[in-house]
Amino acid sequence: GKDGYRHYMEKELHEHPVAIGQTLKRITDPASKRITLPPMPFDLAQVPRVTITACGSAYYAGMVGRYWLESLARIPVEIDVASEMRYREPPQPDKGMALLISQSGETADTLGVLRSLKKAGQSIVSVLNVEHSTIGRESDLVLGMDAGPEISVASTKAFTAQLSVLAALAIEFARARGTMDQAHEERLTASLLDLPSRAAEVFTRTKDIQAMAGVVAQARDVLYLGRGICTPIAFEGALKLKEISYIHAEAYAAGELKHGPISLIDQTVPVVAIAPSTILFDKTLSNLQEAKARGGRILVFTDTAGAKRLEGVAEQIVIMPDVDAFVVPILYAIPVQMLAYEVALLKGTDVDQPRNLAKSVTVE
Ligand code: M6R
Repeated sequence: GKDGYRHYMEKELHEHPVAIGQTLKRITDPASKRITLPPMPFDLAQVPRVTITACGSAYYAGMVGRYWLESLARIPVEIDVASEMRYREPPQPDKGMALLISQSGETADTLGVLRSLKKAGQSIVSVLNVEHSTIGRESDLVLGMDAGPEISVASTKAFTAQLSVLAALAIEFARARGTMDQAHEERLTASLLDLPSRAAEVFTRTKDIQAMAGVVAQARDVLYLGRGICTPIAFEGALKLKEISYIHAEAYAAGELKHGPISLIDQTVPVVAIAPSTILFDKTLSNLQEAKARGGRILVFTDTAGAKRLEGVAEQIVIMPDVDAFVVPILYAIPVQMLAYEVALLKGTDVDQPRNLAKSVTVE
């Protein structure tokens, strides 16, 4: 049941801290602050490229995973949505690894890619919430995410659990490839282990998120902006808003603003930014000043240091707990999803069963 919550989505949002904690339990050792993923059926140091494929929110998790794998483990990463990857026939390297990400493990396009990459000789690793699924059965290795069942059509806790597994995988790769020393691994693992408490703190910001929702709910179109590892979180926010509130939203890498979308901005098109002070903040700030100068209403997820710099620019700010830049995308996914939920409540939509959508897309 819904345990007293109004919707499964609300319940599942509140399960973020537990989903992250349970997922990390299997793959970290809190005493040594080391990652303890199961042994891979191949040598990580020898993998020439990782090919990441998924759909929807799982794809955005994969985009974050790409940043981590590239920056921490210095491994080349190819990524696409499954419906495109399936028909692109990209050349595959010898001993390459395919990484499939799926909550359900049943998504038709993701499964289609699994089968074609297997034929192309790639090792198949999947990150799944439902481990006993078709994708699970056909993988060489399943990395479970232990988020517990997700009922709401809009994915919530599975997303932060996916990110937790991908973060651990990037550390594991980095260790195997000699790009990360033990002290670095311990620092990053500690920041992961700290996440369940920081995630629980986010719910003390509900009033500020509701105030932001009041602005978003009046709009017909909304722009979401992020930079670097926060860009996929902007995409996640825009997707969630579209899914459950039926408000049109688009996400952009903030640097793309002046290459087109800035022409949309006026007082009727709010701009939601994911802008922690730790990630390319000055650049995002200048994008937001430009948007504000065009009459845009600026709504920002940031931290205490960022909030100070946004005075006079942002109309609404949600101040997030301070965390290591490494785990920022995991933490900031939570309020971004909560915003969509609060807007949907104001709009009175059917939050758990949005029109036209299915929880698991088992046909092409
Ligand atoms: O079960 P999967 O993770 O493979 O599903 C992928 C997408 O269908 C899914 O993330 C979808 O985009 C959600 N409704 C997003 O909230």
